[in-house]
Amino acid sequence: MAAKASSSTKCLQLLVFQVALVGPVCCGNVLVWPTEGSHWLNVQTVIRELIRRGHSVTVLVSNASLFIQPKAEAAERFEVFNVPFQKDTIENLIEEIVALWLNNRPTTLTFWQFYKELGKLSKSWHQLNRQMCDAVLTNQELMAHLRGSGYDLLLSDPVTLCGDLVALKLAVPFVYSLRFSPASTVERHCGKIPAPPSYTPAALSELTDRMSFSERIKNIVSYHLQDYVFQSYWGEWDVYYSKILGRPTTLCETMGKAEIWLIRTYWDFEFPRPFLPNFEFVGGLHCQPAKPLPKEMEEFVQSSGEHGVVVFSLGSMVYNLTDEKSNVIARALSQLPQKVLWRYKGKKPEALGSNTRTYDWIPQNDLLGHPLTKAFITHGGTNGIYEAIYHGIPLVGIPMFADQHDNIAHMRAKGAAVELDFGTMKTEDLVDAVNTVINNSSYKENALRLSKIHHDQPITPLDRAVFWIEFVMRHKGAKHLRPAAHHLTWYQYHCLDVLAFLFTCAAIAVFILVKCCLFCCRKRGRIAKRKKE
Ligand SMILES: *[C@@H]1O[C@H](CO)[C@@H](O)[C@H](O)[C@H]1NC(C)=O
Ligand SMILES: *[C@@H]1O[C@H](CO)[C@@H](O)[C@H](O)[C@H]1NC(C)=O
Ligand SMILES: *[C@@H]1O[C@H](CO)[C@@H](O)[C@H](O)[C@H]1NC(C)=O
Ligand SMILES: *[C@@H]1O[C@H](CO)[C@@H](O)[C@H](O)[C@H]1NC(C)=O
Repeated sequence: MAAKASSSTKCLQLLVFQVALVGPVCCGNVLVWPTEGSHWLNVQTVIRELIRRGHSVTVLVSNASLFIQPKAEAAERFEVFNVPFQKDTIENLIEEIVALWLNNRPTTLTFWQFYKELGKLSKSWHQLNRQMCDAVLTNQELMAHLRGSGYDLLLSDPVTLCGDLVALKLAVPFVYSLRFSPASTVERHCGKIPAPPSYTPAALSELTDRMSFSERIKNIVSYHLQDYVFQSYWGEWDVYYSKILGRPTTLCETMGKAEIWLIRTYWDFEFPRPFLPNFEFVGGLHCQPAKPLPKEMEEFVQSSGEHGVVVFSLGSMVYNLTDEKSNVIARALSQLPQKVLWRYKGKKPEALGSNTRTYDWIPQNDLLGHPLTKAFITHGGTNGIYEAIYHGIPLVGIPMFADQHDNIAHMRAKGAAVELDFGTMKTEDLVDAVNTVINNSSYKENALRLSKIHHDQPITPLDRAVFWIEFVMRHKGAKHLRPAAHHLTWYQYHCLDVLAFLFTCAAIAVFILVKCCLFCCRKRGRIAKRKKE
């Protein structure tokens, strides 16, 4: 009896101990730094899950935000700050970036020109970004209010800078959520993730992990060129960060303080590469089983019979196409035996076939998860690609800008996609591409293989992302995962100082050896000479 009592006390003690050790999981207080576009859709999924688990979430949002709509009835709170620019300033900039890509897709010859232009546009983006920073950091009232709110963590996408700086000013640990920075400049230089250029393709290079000699040249040049272009504005940020923090520091040093980097890819899509313990790959965290479609849409899908349907979307950033382009596309779609659901906001093309319906918005994930869906024509944004992987749907990629060419290159290498060039695409090209991914079963098989890999994980990507966010809140950081590389200079990191020292030692040894030899030889020579004499 006594033994039993003591064992149950022990159990209780163990339980209390465990609870104390793990600490309160519930009810952290999270601040979110805003971002735009598909980046925001991803962060939103994490926010919803945090709220579902009882945490409270506050989103900082500028009054010119395109994608974040502060609603009073939302489960998250909003802190709105005023920026001195208008919504259309951001819209125009995004349009310019898309146009740059569409009109000057970088080739070997136009590489340099392209990056120069991209550098200019990203400079404009950084000017807007700086105004956002100022609007928060110089707003004493807002900062005092944020400081008083007792946040446990700040979540940020480093494509919109400054979240890190706000976190430091509030003395709160921060976690990054990102797809990539160009050439992974930020991840490599600030996060210290290794990227051997022999088999880790640079972002925007459209290369895979199997590179020929000339492709490896292209890869190394891509890394350095992008580093050069995208680091060119870091100097200004270094000055700004130093001013705000009141001590000499750099943008990169500050960004390197991120506790966890949640990367929005996974090994179903990404090529195997080295990473660090504070990098977690959570691609597809927004994917979910399909929900039923709206009634009218379901009827249309069912009317397709055995041929099934094709889903078509060029994403949330491309608002309209030229008449010519939209007719090329519409004519192609009209020749398919499938029914087509096309997300398209622009003017209805005349060539639109009776098998095609356009929608301002489609429940993309639910459509891709529909058993009658045969193929997905996509611009190749990471979110859409992951929904296709999740549901095992083959792709026809029409990449337009940013990481989209890369994404399609990945899916092509995995045998689940056909790529088309948006600029030169003809009606027949689109018809052929869709027929190929549907008729040739290898595309569907590869898509299903990726889907199986994606689903066969010990913990879902969303749970893993939220686990690490909660971990950082429980432990006030994740310093034990932080590599010591952060304390090294670049020459120490590559051991150049050690190599230089060893090389000098070796050189001195060789020098002494040679001198000795010469001395001996000469002496022997002299003795021999004397003997002769
Ligand atoms: C945001 O607020 C600022 C200052 O009140 C104003 O100048 C700016 O036009 C506003 N922007 C938008 C998009 O409402
Ligand atoms: C998109 O629409 C706007 C107005 O709605 C128009 O000014 C612009 O030229 C259009 N872009 C293209 C590529 O057709
Ligand atoms: C692919 O299938 C479609 C009908 O689904 C047919 O019209 C087309 O000729 C086929 N193409 C090939 C290359 O088999
Ligand atoms: C299907 O596509 C794969 C990959 O492009 C190709 O190797 C194969 O020959 C194709 N099969 C047929 C029957 O066309």
